[in-house]
Amino acid sequence: MNRRTFAVLTIMFLVLLMGSLLAACGKAKDEAAVPTPEQEEAAPVALDAKPLLEERCTSCHDLGRVERANKTNEEWKAMVERMVEKGAQLNQAEQEAVIQYLAETYGP
Ligand code: HEC
Repeated sequence: MNRRTFAVLTIMFLVLLMGSLLAACGKAKDEAAVPTPEQEEAAPVALDAKPLLEERCTSCHDLGRVERANKTNEEWKAMVERMVEKGAQLNQAEQEAVIQYLAETYGP
């Protein structure tokens, strides 16, 4: 094989290698775009609870103290129940959504 043939074969090999690398990357990206069942379940709760917090938890204080707190699920539950006793307007289902959202977003 002369030098020229060798160079052409080397270039062809590199082009093929890059092509398959690009194809592999594209595939990984497609897979990442499909949400897992867990993400699909978690998303609606987060979407509902955030406006609830902003609407029902800001009549007495801002959300600064919520954002600074890192509480466990149990601690958020106790805290939300205390706020409801004080007068926060949340029904049972709304309390649960808010507690779950708080524990996921501002957990330990
Ligand atoms: C009726 C008025 C009122 C509403 C509505 C209210 N809070 Fe409060 N919140 C208070 C008062 C008063 C305090 C300070 C006394 C205390 O901590 O018990 C407080 C304190 C807090 C604290 C700091 C105390 C701690 O345990 O970390 C957090 C966090 C908090 N509220 C979150 C919330 C959230 C979340 C909501 C909505 C579910 C809410 N609050 C709605 C009156 C309210």
